[in-house]
This record gives sequence, structure tokens and C-alpha cells, in this order.
Amino acid sequence: MPADVLVIGLGYVGLPLALEATRAGYRVTGFDTRAQIARSLNEGRSHVDDLGDDEVAEMLRGGFRATHDEASLTPPDVIVICVPTPLSVADGPDLTAVRAASQTAGRLLAPGALVSLESTTYPGTTDEVVRPLLEKVSGLTAGLGFSLAFSPERIDPGNQDFGLRNTPKIVGGVTPSCADAAEAFYSKVCDQVVKAKSAREAEMAKLLENTYRHVNIALVNEMAIFCRELGVDLWDAIRCAATKPFGFQPFFPGPGVGGHCIPIDPNYLSYQVRRLGYPFRFVELAQEINGRMPGYVVSRATELLNRNFKPVNGSSVLLLGVTYKKDSADLRETPANSVARQLWRAGARVTYCDPYVTDWSVDGRRVEAGGCLADAVAAADLVILLQAHSAYDPAEIGRRARLLLDTRGVTTAGERL
Ligand SMILES: NC(=O)c1ccc[n+]([C@@H]2O[C@H](COP(=O)([O-])OP(=O)(O)OC[C@H]3O[C@@H](n4cnc5c(N)ncnc54)[C@H](O)[C@@H]3O)[C@@H](O)[C@H]2O)c1
Repeated sequence: MPADVLVIGLGYVGLPLALEATRAGYRVTGFDTRAQIARSLNEGRSHVDDLGDDEVAEMLRGGFRATHDEASLTPPDVIVICVPTPLSVADGPDLTAVRAASQTAGRLLAPGALVSLESTTYPGTTDEVVRPLLEKVSGLTAGLGFSLAFSPERIDPGNQDFGLRNTPKIVGGVTPSCADAAEAFYSKVCDQVVKAKSAREAEMAKLLENTYRHVNIALVNEMAIFCRELGVDLWDAIRCAATKPFGFQPFFPGPGVGGHCIPIDPNYLSYQVRRLGYPFRFVELAQEINGRMPGYVVSRATELLNRNFKPVNGSSVLLLGVTYKKDSADLRETPANSVARQLWRAGARVTYCDPYVTDWSVDGRRVEAGGCLADAVAAADLVILLQAHSAYDPAEIGRRARLLLDTRGVTTAGERL
């Protein structure tokens, strides 16, 4: 008899999990508070970049159903919570959705069931926030009446080589038997399950991964600024350093960090460390450096125009590639927003081209689309390459642009960041 799985929160994380669990033979139901999402999924339409309509159709054929009506749900064997954890006003995680989802899970909790939290959050959340809510609402005890674990989502949007199935899945239980239950569930969904000592280590592992990226990106961004003054091509230095077969992983400079994880997750950790009475200096420094990069891009753009006898005020500036990630349509927290905002403030006429973005607004103001790439590049006073999508031909862009600022180090004709 296949087990029943309930996925709470059908977004970038919940949907791929629901797909893989359906493929593994589980009977999967999805619950999302947004009625529109449940409706469109049941009609076969995906709202998430990484998952196509064909995959939604496959899920529906495998028995998947989505609902926004909690009253229609029956107690499942496994509940996975994949709801958002945005930053609160005080820069800590806003756990409103996690609390609400835990209450839903508590109301549906049957003896022997497993609850797994996948939302990114600070260490201790599973044990100190989710556990008491589940126990209070259900009347059951974690580790005895039901199992409770944390299992971080490690999705890399757009990655063709690694998906949910072949990326090792970390699980941490609030008790050893909870970890066993989580391992039993995830081992059918993923090729490899890695057991953490407890839920706290699993929560920390996720934040360590993202903080590591955040800090290393800040390192090369800071280096990019002084390398230029020292007359060093940092991209070439990175290319050389990356030939070392051990002890080095390349990170590359750019116009700043974006997406749902890197600019946000390390805050959860620094928030928690601040509660201990001291700062997490690496994270705060990385935030400061990465946060300054869009401003640095604009100052370099201004300088480049100025050197060519053009004030930024009144100049036409084309932004090429405005998503936070290469070959992705994801605009969340993209540093392009800040670049456009600052260019507008300086009086520039801003347009953009991006094969993945048909409509882009910053602070509610629409950015004009540049139209045909080749013509837009040739027409602009300055082209700023913000994202080096594979569809771009750097040599062609370099040939056509009157002035080019390349923040990704992919062209030879333009000026690099
Ligand atoms: N997107 C990523 O690449 C990624 C990667 C790793 C971890 N995460 C983490 O996973 C979590 C979810 O992120 P996401 O990108 O899937 O978010 P998302 O916004 O794409 O999806 C979350 C969904 O949860 C729904 N929801 C909110 N409150 C709910 C509730 N109480 N009950 C039921 N549904 C509810 C929302 O309507 C939304 O559809 C976050 O904590 C995030 O930090 C995201």
C-alpha cells in the first residue's frame, strides 16, 4: 500500500518534491493557501520555472491533486512543509507561514506520521518552533507519537546536471528514531540520504552552504574593485587558480547577489548570532560588499560615459540580462533592480534586453524593453552586460556596442568590471 504524502506550500521547493514523490510511487496531495495555484495545477499548468506543464501532467497522471481547502484533507503518512521564510522587518526570519503550516500539519497529524520541514530557517526552529506547535495541536509527542525532522532543500534552479533526485538529501531528526523515519521517506525520493546528528545540524548545514557562497562571492567582488586599480585581470587570475586540483573552488565577480537564498539566508544566521550578543562579522561584511556592487557598477558606468564626453544624465543605457542567474527567468532580488534604480536617479534613459524576461518593473515603474538585441546594442550610448545568458554572443555584443561595461568578464572588447 503506497503511503500518502501531503506537501504544504506548492512553490519552487514544494512542487519539485511533489513531482519526485509522485514518481517514487507515493500518493501525493499538495496544499497551498493560494486557490489560484491549486486550481492551475489541477488544470495542468505550472507556475514555477523549473517545472514544466508536461511534468504537472505527469504528476496528475500519477494521482497528484492540489487543494487550497484544508477541510478536504485527510491525515497523511508524511507531511512536508515547504512554505516561505522571508526576512522580517528586524532582518530575522519571518516564521508566520511556518507557524501556520505547522498548525495545519498538527490538525492532520495521525499517530506514526512523519513531519519534515524543508523551509530554510535558523538552527533550532524545528525543535523550538515547529515541535511545540505540532505537539500542542495534535496532542502527540515528537519521537513517540510522531516523527519530526528538518531536511533542507538544495535546489539549484536551472541546473541540468543536479536535481532533487541526484543531489544528496540531508535529514536531521529531533530524535534518532525521527531521523530513521525521515531517511526511510527520502531514500525513495532521492538517491542518497545523509543523516545529520540532529535537526539543528541539518538546519545549520543549509545556512553554511549559502553563507559559504555569499562570503566567497563577496571576496571576489572586493578583489575585482582593487584588481582593476592594480591593473590585474581578476577573471584570468581565477581561471589560473582554478587549475589547482585541490583546495580551491572558483567564484566569480558580478553586479551583486540575487535570488531567494544567497542575499537572504545568511541573515537568519547573523540574526541568531546577534541574539548571543555579538555580530557574525563575515556575513555582515559579505552583505555590505555584495550590497554595494550595483552602486559600483553605476559608478563605473558613469565614469565610462564621462571618459567618452557623455554625461550619464540623458544617456541611453541598455541593461543586458536582468535575471539574478544565468539562463533563468528568476528576477527575485536581482541586483539589476538596484542598477536600474540608480541609473534612473542619475537621469539615464534605461532599457533592457533579456531572452527570459518579457516584462520588468522596478519599484512599480516599467523598464522599457529594448526590442531586437542587435539593434538595441548598437543604438545605446552604453551597454551594461549584467547577466551572461548562453543566448548572448559576447563577441558580437562587443563588436556592436558603442561602449560596453561587462560585469561578467565574458567579452574581450568591453571594459570589465
Ligand atoms: N526557491 C529556492 O530555490 C529555494 C531553495 C532552497 C530553499 N528554499 C526555501 O524553501 C522555502 C520555500 O521556498 P519557495 O521558493 O518554494 O517559496 P514559494 O514562494 O515559491 O512557495 C511557497 C508556497 O507556499 C504557499 N504558502 C504560504 N503559506 C502557506 C501555508 N500556511 N499553507 C500552505 N501553503 C502556504 C505560498 O502560497 C507559496 O505558493 C523557503 O523557506 C525558502 O527559503 C527555497
